[in-house]
Amino acid sequence: MQLLALRAQFPALEQTLDGYPLCYLDTAATSQKPQSVLDAMADFYRYDNANVHRAAHQLSARSTAKYEAVRDKVQAFVNAQRREEIIFTHGTTEAINQVAWGLNQKLDSNSVILVDTAAHHANIVPWQQLAQRTGAKVIAIPLADDGRIDQQAYQALVAQSPSIVAINHVSNVLGTVNPVQAMVAQAKAAGALTLVDGAQAVAHKRVDMQEIDCDFYVFSGHKMYGPTGVGILYGRYQQLDTLTPLLTGGEMIEQVSFDGTSFNTLPNRLEAGTPAIAEVIGLGAAIDYIANLPQAATQKREAELVNYLQTQLQQLGGITLYAAHNDNCGAVAFNLNGEHHQDVGILLDQQGVAIRCGHHCAMPLMHSLQISGCCRASIGVYTSHEDIDRFIEALSSVKAMLID
Ligand code: ALA
Repeated sequence: MQLLALRAQFPALEQTLDGYPLCYLDTAATSQKPQSVLDAMADFYRYDNANVHRAAHQLSARSTAKYEAVRDKVQAFVNAQRREEIIFTHGTTEAINQVAWGLNQKLDSNSVILVDTAAHHANIVPWQQLAQRTGAKVIAIPLADDGRIDQQAYQALVAQSPSIVAINHVSNVLGTVNPVQAMVAQAKAAGALTLVDGAQAVAHKRVDMQEIDCDFYVFSGHKMYGPTGVGILYGRYQQLDTLTPLLTGGEMIEQVSFDGTSFNTLPNRLEAGTPAIAEVIGLGAAIDYIANLPQAATQKREAELVNYLQTQLQQLGGITLYAAHNDNCGAVAFNLNGEHHQDVGILLDQQGVAIRCGHHCAMPLMHSLQISGCCRASIGVYTSHEDIDRFIEALSSVKAMLID
């Protein structure tokens, strides 16, 4: 499909801001949504709306069938062994909190939790809270000067027999890609449980749970062309089955009496309350959308776009790029030398260019880079070379305004 036709499937892209056509380079924060996702959710509310798993009536049966069909789609999408290994959450953050809460009984004051320095706060703070509850110690896996994980330091840390290793698949700020398969294998050989945050990977890469072989892999719907409010916790059956539920009530029970409660089997055991049914259905449509893209060609084009962004920024001059490697994925982090990232973002917005500025919910990474924040341009399937040219042109005028 031609890019123009593909872009036409994303209604939000067809707008002007202050007379400028929207140039959306903030997909890492949230992607725009194709019409098929919007339609799937609207159709659900219009025709099928009923709660799942509960009633004897036809609407509920239809709603349940659609909801559970998405579990099968996600299972295939990540190549999980069993459908019960797919848990619907409200997002990556809830998924990691569930895992960290669920491991309360398994850690003690001798336990070590290794966490990626470049992790998003959602993959740091739940581990700190777990450490506070259990007396365990959180140790940051340091980055090398090139902004990637220092693999030698990682191996030395893994030799301390950590209980948990929590890493990014792709950094939300830098777009750097961790060698997750090798890192998981090393962690497992040392006896650790592994969690990989795939929030920034799944829209851009094929992910395969049998290849990565981690215990837990988490991601959100809204960064992969689906809606907000839904995410996935993938976990190995045996590991999920022994997690203490974070939330209780609803379909997660088997028997309740005032003498005590027994819990349901997976996946219901970890899905308390009425789930985000319409959002799960929207996520299913997003998976269909991604599945229908030509995979190799899309990945190649996205890699070219990231490299184009990097080289255009370099050529502009007066720019510091952070950890800009050829094989980065989805995002480019930079600062305009001597200028505050927020000023740059606001001035770009005045020309219809949307990027994200700040600490990107990754303060320890900012500390490691010795900056207070940065700008980030990020791409999606709908991004064109013209978007990048427009962004560079706007940045050039911002640079002229602020510096020259
Ligand atoms: N994690 C999201 C981002 O990087 C919110 O912008």
